[in-house]
Amino acid sequence: SANQTYSIASIPADGIGPEVISAGITVLKALTETLGTFKLNFTNYDWSSETYKKTGKYIPEGGLEELKKHDAIFFGAVGAPDVPDHISLWGLRLAICQTFQQYANVRPTRVFRGTESPLRNCKQGDLDWVIVRENSEGEYAGQGGRSHTGKPWEVATEVAIFSRHGVERIMRFAFETAQQRPRKLLTVVTKSNAQRNGMVLWDEVAQAVAKEFPDVTMDKMLVDAMTTRMVLKPESLDTIVASNLVNHPLPPPLSLHADILSDLAASLAGSIGIAPTSNLDPTREYPSMFEPIHGSAFDITGMGISNPVATFWTAAEMLAWLGEQDASKQLLDCVENVCEQGVLTRDLGGKATTKEVTEAVVAEIGKLA
Ligand code: NAI
Ligand code: MG
Repeated sequence: SANQTYSIASIPADGIGPEVISAGITVLKALTETLGTFKLNFTNYDWSSETYKKTGKYIPEGGLEELKKHDAIFFGAVGAPDVPDHISLWGLRLAICQTFQQYANVRPTRVFRGTESPLRNCKQGDLDWVIVRENSEGEYAGQGGRSHTGKPWEVATEVAIFSRHGVERIMRFAFETAQQRPRKLLTVVTKSNAQRNGMVLWDEVAQAVAKEFPDVTMDKMLVDAMTTRMVLKPESLDTIVASNLVNHPLPPPLSLHADILSDLAASLAGSIGIAPTSNLDPTREYPSMFEPIHGSAFDITGMGISNPVATFWTAAEMLAWLGEQDASKQLLDCVENVCEQGVLTRDLGGKATTKEVTEAVVAEIGKLA
């Protein structure tokens, strides 16, 4: 709204996180200066795997209380080659998501102007999805444990939890998301043939909530068939809701996460380097967190070639959540114009550096004046 100032906590964290977050802040500053309709105040937090290695903690004492004061969190990526991924994920990202009840994880994907899907017959407009992922329970709620550690008879459990309250609120959020989009189509991803408790509750609640949204068409897909449909009939999908992790009845390396469905989605749209994700607390009691879908990408860290587009789209999603829908749309248009001009990083088949893409977007923003 008019002349409002929003307080943004930025947490660049690890790998290419600092490169893309700094590009994102550059672009957001250019946008607010050009539009002059609202302000963003950034506070940087250097919480990362480096701080963890020095202090034993990702988030210092009182850190979450501090974070809670902001209107939104702009997050890079966490993960370092010399820290186990479960330590980094739980130490920083999930600590924030879980404490702040960010139960809805929203992942839009589409093929931008000037970019191509690796699917031969997929044209612009054929792939335009929003994946809504339950972000607080399922298999990521932290239930489980290890007994008899190190012994040959050691046991480890990872318990998936589905509460009626948790499933109801994510279904309602997913139906509302679908309702706001032109096609009003929601696909509920499940695995209730193999997971006969949690996923059956999931299906039942979906059916019940569907009655509140008579204008939304709902269909149900088993997760394995879903991957096929995403690849072969992308145009048949619009809004998709899935649990945090949907287990395939095969051993762990082949298990399928909603996490993975959305990485697949991002690659089908052209690159993991363009897709954003929002971790939302729809009650707005706590700040929501916005991040590119990709990780810390050690293989390209420091080379200056990371694609900042995912972070720009992330920034646009953050603005929309803050209530600045026009600015959000304008930013995304500028980014798409730059893609259409062929200013693309290597992951999208181009030669541009992070800096060149950022400068091109800033130049496009300048034209809004
Ligand atoms: P990744 O997303 O970091 O990288 C996968 C591949 O995509 C790499 O080849 C990378 O170079 C490429 N890539 C990713 N982002 C790109 C960008 N912006 N521009 C160009 N190319 C890009 O996933 P990976 O390698 O599985 O994980 C690396 C680390 O990141 C791990 O420690 C993992 O736990 C962490 N991670 C953190 C996430 C988060 O903080 N939300 C999400 C996913 C992974
Ligand atoms: Mg992922």
